[in-house]
Amino acid sequence: KICCIGAGYVGGPTMSVIADKCPNLEIKVVDINQKKINAWNSKDLKFLPVFEPGLEDIIKRVRDKNLFFSTDIDFAIKEADIIFISVNTPIKTSGIGAGEASDLKWVEASARRIASCAKGHTIVVEKSTLPVRTAEVIKNILYSSVNNSPDNSSFSVLSNPEFLAEGTAIKDLENPDRVLIGGDDSSSIEKLKEIYLNWVPTEKILTANLWSSELSKLTANAFLAQRVSSINSISAICEATGGNVREVADAVGLDHRVGKLFLSPGPGFGGSCFKKDILNLVYLCKQFNLPEVANYWKQVIILNDWQKKRIYKNIVKSLFGNLSDKKIVILGFAFKANTNDTRESPAIQISLDLLDENANLVFHDPKVSQEQIKEVIISAQKDKKKDESFINKKLFFAKDIYKAVEDSDALILITDWEEYVNLNWQKISKLMRKPSWVFDTRAILNSQNIRNEGINMWQVGEGNFE
Ligand code: NAD
Ligand code: UGA
Repeated sequence: KICCIGAGYVGGPTMSVIADKCPNLEIKVVDINQKKINAWNSKDLKFLPVFEPGLEDIIKRVRDKNLFFSTDIDFAIKEADIIFISVNTPIKTSGIGAGEASDLKWVEASARRIASCAKGHTIVVEKSTLPVRTAEVIKNILYSSVNNSPDNSSFSVLSNPEFLAEGTAIKDLENPDRVLIGGDDSSSIEKLKEIYLNWVPTEKILTANLWSSELSKLTANAFLAQRVSSINSISAICEATGGNVREVADAVGLDHRVGKLFLSPGPGFGGSCFKKDILNLVYLCKQFNLPEVANYWKQVIILNDWQKKRIYKNIVKSLFGNLSDKKIVILGFAFKANTNDTRESPAIQISLDLLDENANLVFHDPKVSQEQIKEVIISAQKDKKKDESFINKKLFFAKDIYKAVEDSDALILITDWEEYVNLNWQKISKLMRKPSWVFDTRAILNSQNIRNEGINMWQVGEGNFE
């Protein structure tokens, strides 16, 4: 019997795939958030809290058979042989380490709950991404409860970081590049390995010590984010010199030592993890008195923030330095295509900056609801203490892109949704106010086609000296 604490973007899809691949296991995914659990249990699968291609089909097969979603956390812990901790680990917002260190309060709460409810021998698996040596904290909490426990409970702690990317989570889980298990108790490692062996080839299952495993997860995300910042830095050089970043990325990526993946320029990386995991790495480096290493990784985030700012400044400059009451259409609010997740989406900062210029914003996203966009912007805006009613007057939403662009001055493509690639530019050109602008922050549109329709065009990483 398996319990997973945390029914979020990781817990939900990961446990769905394990349930699908291992019909002999009974899996309970538990969460403190009743609304989320209700959504996971909803009859109409379009209300699942997470949108992931392929997820609905799996849920249809396994939900209420060997996969259950519940808020009865204590009962699920009591019954479980293996417990995955899959709770959120955001950056601390106050106190020591604010702005860099991970806030471990949800992990600690989970460990304490396990300590008080578990029976018999329980394998506790860190699935959340955690600072190096967090397993020590979890062990400490669990082992001190053992000393006070009348019913002989005992624990092993393993690290089993998750490498899935949103939008391709099911594919990544079904066919992972690797599964990493860190720990020092070989029989528990074997038990966890047995589960994965139901569908993952043995050579893809790596074992390591706990600290290497925790550090590998932070390092993997830091390397990936670094590639995005690297190509974005080159996009700026291309714009200044007349190069084309797509062509440069193709030429560089064909060197098999570099590889062609993760070299797409964009408005800066978003998502809940890259920034927080690098900040966490930076914090660790400072703790261990490695300031040069800390500065090295910090630069990846500085470049990422700069990319968003330079895009915004470029928009303002192109529209004669004045956005007051101009209508600007934002295509895409999710942090990448094929997800409904908006955490750290570059669309947030760019929208806030445009609102500071008094622009009117019209949003379109195929999977993010109007309520979600509004909530995210309003809560991000709160820091700046701007009046909520002002924001309400400046935000508009559209289901139909062609309706959205009517009388608009500019269209900014932020998320790389497939449906944005082949729009009818002839029609759009007729609907927009002149002079009209398109800003393609993903370099996925055909600039020439758009210019041919009489629209001014800026594309990230496209040096254009016509
Ligand atoms: P999430 O916010 O979507 O989900 C976390 C869930 O945990 C929430 O529903 C929350 O209510 C629940 N929770 C918090 N404390 C709890 C408690 N004490 N008891 C029960 N439930 C509790 O977060 P996520 O995106 O799934 O990320 C979870 C972890 O996985 C993070 O550490 C993240 O860094 C890591 N990770 C995320 C991804 C990703 O693509 N999102 C990929 C790999 C790793
Ligand atoms: C990332 C990692 O890819 C996963 O391996 C990891 O498990 C996960 O973080 C995590 O720990 O949460 P995710 O953030 O879901 O996954 O999505 P990515 O595909 O990595 O994209 C991250 C951001 O970088 C997105 O905003 C994306 O648009 C951007 N990106 C990505 C680019 O701008 N260019 C690229 O070439 C690739």
